[in-house]
Amino acid sequence: MNICCIGAGYVGGPTMAMIARKCPDTKVTVVDINAKRVAQWNSDHLPIFEPGLDEIVRATRGRNLFFSTEVDEAIVAADMIFVSVNTPTKTYGMGAGRAADLKFIELCARRIASVATGRKIVVEKSTLPVRTAESLKTVLSANSSGAEFQVLSNPEFLAEGTAMADLESPDRVLIGSESTPEGIKAAETLVSVYAQWVPRDRIITTNLWSSELSKLVANAFLAQRISSINAISALCEATEADVAEVSFAIGRDSRIGSKFLKASVGFGGSCFQKDILNLVYLCDHFGLPEVAAYWEQVIRMNDWQKRRYSQQVVSSLFNTVAGKKIAVLGFAFKKDTNDTRESASIYVCRDLVDEQANLAVYDPKVSENQIRKDLNQGEVLVDGRPNTSVVIEQDPYAAAKDAHAVLILTEWDEFRDLDFQRIFDGMLKPAFIFDGRNILDLKALRGIGFEARGIGR
Ligand code: NAD
Ligand code: UGA
Repeated sequence: MNICCIGAGYVGGPTMAMIARKCPDTKVTVVDINAKRVAQWNSDHLPIFEPGLDEIVRATRGRNLFFSTEVDEAIVAADMIFVSVNTPTKTYGMGAGRAADLKFIELCARRIASVATGRKIVVEKSTLPVRTAESLKTVLSANSSGAEFQVLSNPEFLAEGTAMADLESPDRVLIGSESTPEGIKAAETLVSVYAQWVPRDRIITTNLWSSELSKLVANAFLAQRISSINAISALCEATEADVAEVSFAIGRDSRIGSKFLKASVGFGGSCFQKDILNLVYLCDHFGLPEVAAYWEQVIRMNDWQKRRYSQQVVSSLFNTVAGKKIAVLGFAFKKDTNDTRESASIYVCRDLVDEQANLAVYDPKVSENQIRKDLNQGEVLVDGRPNTSVVIEQDPYAAAKDAHAVLILTEWDEFRDLDFQRIFDGMLKPAFIFDGRNILDLKALRGIGFEARGIGR
C-alpha cells in the first residue's frame, strides 16, 4: 500500500509517523507546500516538539516514511490520500469568526482531481464541518479526468503533548464512509491499516456524517467540561470551597468521571474554540439558534475566565501594574508542546501589556520568535513608541528577579520543582504568585512569604 498525506503539521506528521512505524510494508509520504516545514521534518530539528516523536521519525524516515514538497508526484503514486491541512476559523466574509475556512481543503481536492488517475481513497483527516465529504466528492468528480474516488472521514483525536501515546493506543479510531459497496470496501481498506496495531473493537465504522459530526461533538464535550469546572472555580473563590476538592469529589462518581476537570486560566489550543465556533455556526445554519447559544456559552465562559485572571492580577497588585515587572512562566497552551495557538498566556499577556506592565516571559519549549509573533512585539507601537515591554528569558529565575508577581500559565512539570525561596528572595515585596494551573502548594508558598493565589481555591 502507498499512502500520501497532504499537510505536514501537528496531525499529519505524528499520525503518518505512527502509521509508518506500525505498517512497515506501507510507504508513507507526507507532503506540504511549506518547504521550510518539510526541510525541518527532514532535519534533526523537527518542526514540532512532541514526546516520543523524534525516536519514531528517526526509525522510519528514509525507510518507509518520507517528507516532500512534491505534492503531485505523491498523489499520483498513492492508493490512499489523507488530507490533513489546517481548517482555521474564517476571518472574512460570510460566517467570519465562526465558520471553518475550507479553502485549503478545496485546494487539495482540486489538486488531487487534476493529477490523480485510477482508483483513489481520499481520507478526511482534518476536522471538518458535517457534510463536507459531499462537497469534497463533488469537487473531486467534477474536476477529474477518469479517476474514481471514495471519500472517507477519519477524524483525529490525539491531544498534543501525548500525541504518540494517543496514536499508539487510541481509545477509538473512527471511520465514516458511504454505505454503498464501494464505500464499505474503502472503509475496510482503511480499517486494515489501523488493525495492524489497534484492537479491532476499538475501530468504529459509521456513516460519513456521524463521523464528521462526532469529531466536533467530542471537542465540544471536552471543552464544556473545562468551562463547567472553571465556572465553578469562580463560585469556589466566593465561598471558600476548593475547586480541586470539588473536582475530586464529583469525579469519583463513575457517571461523571475524573478526567478533564482541572480548573485553569482557560483552555487554549488550535481546536477547541475553532471547532465549537464551527458547531455554533452549523447549528445556526440549520435553524437551531437555541442549540447554537448553548454551545457558544462554553466559549464565552472561557473568554471570561482568561479575563478574570488578568483582572485578578491587576486588582491584587493595588489596581495598577503600569511599569511593574511581571514574570510569566509558561507560554505554550499546555505542557509538553511548543504549540502556542490560542494559548491563554497570549490573552493574559496582552491584557497586562495593555495595562502597561513590563513582562518577562519564560517557556522551556517555545521560541523567542514565536512569543514575539504572538504578542505582536517588534511591530506594534504603543503610544507611538516602539513596544519593548516584553523580554524573553531563558531561565525562570531571571524572569522572576525584581518582579512584583509571578504568573504560572502553563503546567510544565519543571515549574513544580522550582526553588521558590530563591524566587521569593529575588522579588519585590509583597511578592505575589498567581498559579493559573493549580500545580503549586499554596500553603508552602504562603509559608515562604508569598501572597499566593490559585484558581478556585
Ligand atoms: P497545522 O497548521 O499544524 O498543519 C497543516 C499543514 O497543512 C501546514 O503545514 C500547511 O502548510 C499545510 N497545507 C495547507 N494547505 C496545503 C495544501 N494545499 N497543500 C499542501 N499542504 C498544505 O495544522 P494541524 O494542527 O496539523 O491540524 C490539521 C487539521 O487536524 C485541522 O483540521 C485540525 O482541526 C485537525 N486536528 C488537529 C489536532 C491537533 O492537535 N493539532 C488534533 C486533531 C485534529
Ligand atoms: C484536544 C482534544 O483533547 C483532542 O482529543 C483533540 O484531538 C484535539 O483537541 C484537537 O482536535 O485538536 P489538545 O487541544 O491538543 O487536544 O489538548 P487538551 O489536552 O485537550 O487540552 C486543551 C486545553 O484545555 C489546554 O489548554 C489544557 O491546558 C486545557 N485543559 C485541559 C484544562 O484547562 N483543564 C483540563 O482538565 C484539561
